Amino acid sequence: MAANQKSGNSLYHPSEGVKMRARIKEYDKLYQESITNREDFWAKEAEELFWYQKWNKVLDDSNKPFYKWFTGGKTNVVANAIDRHLDSETKNKLALIWEGEPGDVRTFSYFALNREISKFANVLKAMGAKKGDIVTIYMPQIPEIIIAMLACAKIGAAHSVIYGGFSVEALAERIADAHSSILITADGGFRRGKPTNLKTIADEAMRRSPTIDVCITVKRTGKECFMENDRDYWWHDLMGMPIASAKCETEQTDAEDPLFILYTSGTTGKPKGLIHTHGGYSVYASSTFKYVFDIQPDDRWWCAADPGWITGHSYIVYGPLINGATILLYEGAPNHPYPNRWWQMIEKYGVNIFYTSPTAIRGLMRYGASWADKHDLSSLRLLGSVGEPINPEAWLWYYEVIGKNNCPIMDTWWQTETGGFMITPLPITPLKPGSATKPFFGNEISVVDESGKAVKHGTEGNLVIKNPWPGMARTILGDPDRFIEKYWKLYEKQGWYLTGDSAKIDEDGYVWIIGRNDDVLKVSGYRLGSAEIESALVSHPAVTEAAAIGLPDKLKGNIIHATVILKDGFSESDELANELKMHVDGEIGPIARPAFVVFADSLPKTRSGKIMRRVLKARALGQEEGDLSTLEE
Ligand code: PRX
Repeated sequence: MAANQKSGNSLYHPSEGVKMRARIKEYDKLYQESITNREDFWAKEAEELFWYQKWNKVLDDSNKPFYKWFTGGKTNVVANAIDRHLDSETKNKLALIWEGEPGDVRTFSYFALNREISKFANVLKAMGAKKGDIVTIYMPQIPEIIIAMLACAKIGAAHSVIYGGFSVEALAERIADAHSSILITADGGFRRGKPTNLKTIADEAMRRSPTIDVCITVKRTGKECFMENDRDYWWHDLMGMPIASAKCETEQTDAEDPLFILYTSGTTGKPKGLIHTHGGYSVYASSTFKYVFDIQPDDRWWCAADPGWITGHSYIVYGPLINGATILLYEGAPNHPYPNRWWQMIEKYGVNIFYTSPTAIRGLMRYGASWADKHDLSSLRLLGSVGEPINPEAWLWYYEVIGKNNCPIMDTWWQTETGGFMITPLPITPLKPGSATKPFFGNEISVVDESGKAVKHGTEGNLVIKNPWPGMARTILGDPDRFIEKYWKLYEKQGWYLTGDSAKIDEDGYVWIIGRNDDVLKVSGYRLGSAEIESALVSHPAVTEAAAIGLPDKLKGNIIHATVILKDGFSESDELANELKMHVDGEIGPIARPAFVVFADSLPKTRSGKIMRRVLKARALGQEEGDLSTLEE
């Protein structure tokens, strides 16, 4: 591979070797074509997938902003991710290499994965699941989470995966919102050498949200757990029964049928269940993955996210499997038992493309380069980053220490709502550390002021997307008004999608994401709403009101700072502050635990009663409080 050249203005050029392998040799021309003839571009991409019946219309925009793609078409993501590979040489290729934290390994060829999916699809049917249902999945990072997702899709039921790090209330309210009657979980998983207690959390969530009739539990840790008669079943028992036949027809779903619901945090306390579809989402996840990570038949791909987030849905499961890739899944912590665990796995499995978050990079960078230097990482060709802006220091460390100056970093900007990459380099793009570079094919983006006027180069503004794309979320489950209000209202006249992020575009057209400009926090790359944390705090008997904000943090991007007002009869103490932190942990999960809880007698509010988080932030950081003219007396 030719040596990388670093030019004077800090542009990092991909090596000749990487560029030569890349599918796309030239960006500008293809990009122009893709936005000029957007529907042709996407039709061509869709033609690479299998359809039981071809679409009549590529884009139906008759009811904006509820766009539809490939209407009249019939497909199923499983027909593309599994079934079609069974008739090709991919059949016996490894689909999944899984390593548990204790070091146990399981592998599945496409053929073997299909058997498990088909068997579990039949189990789901026997337990009453059918097309149109929403099945909730709450699992650790074990192969069964992927099998369960694909089994739901195969029978035409939508899955709603709840991240395994969430706790009781987060799980309960998502089950209730989806009216799920089936829950798939596990006794736990291993994290830093200890078993987690998923089933105990699931039991409490089912008590709070009684829609679940059937709960199927995978035995992973062997820890004893409560099993209720006529509700609780072991996965292995069901899979050993005659109901679990290995033959199962894949349901022919409409392009617009829901494939999954994924909840994400917004500006109110109630999480939004975004709906993604079989048709458009499959096309978008597949194309973005193929072009950006340039997957080749002999590649081993590792996306070190949790399958429970959109990154895991699109780039552990669907995008890679549609492309017939070999994926790696690891159960545990990156620094267990030592901080070289990930680097050791890259060497052991010969990973070619590796995708993770800036927080993870910063976390491992702390331990120094020597842990990575112990390992042969020469199999790597491309690296990726997602979830939050990557600071140049972390970018350079990733590039130099992990990529040995040879692997371009694909800093992919996107959201749960977008389904796949929106702004991203390709393997041929000259890189600037910290910039997600340019829009993916088909997308026109802009940075604008409140009125919709594009701001000058280098000026911060609202990041908008000016066109529909196949991977876009179709709506919010049960709340189409909120979908309009949140994403489409501000630039209704122009018909643009509001991302909620602020950004800048430089003179070369490179996009620099600054961060969220609403009350959404990014903590270690996890997305949390201020309001969710606040409602967890006020669910504690001592608290009458609370305000949560994010404070900048070198490692996590942001940490949570909460100001609480106590009810009469309760007094401030360090013990109570700690109790409140643990209360949030128990309701939402450890990721939402505030780093600071401070007590106050009142909260700064506007005359209309809105909490002035800006003022709280300035106070917490010891800065000037700025213009207080709207502050209530
Ligand atoms: O603020 C942006 C940030 O993550 C938000 C979306 O979060 P979520 O829906 O959880 O999806 C994360 C994984 C796609 C965005 O609004 N974000 C995501 N990727 C980047 C990023 N910020 C900067 N650079 C990125 N590459």
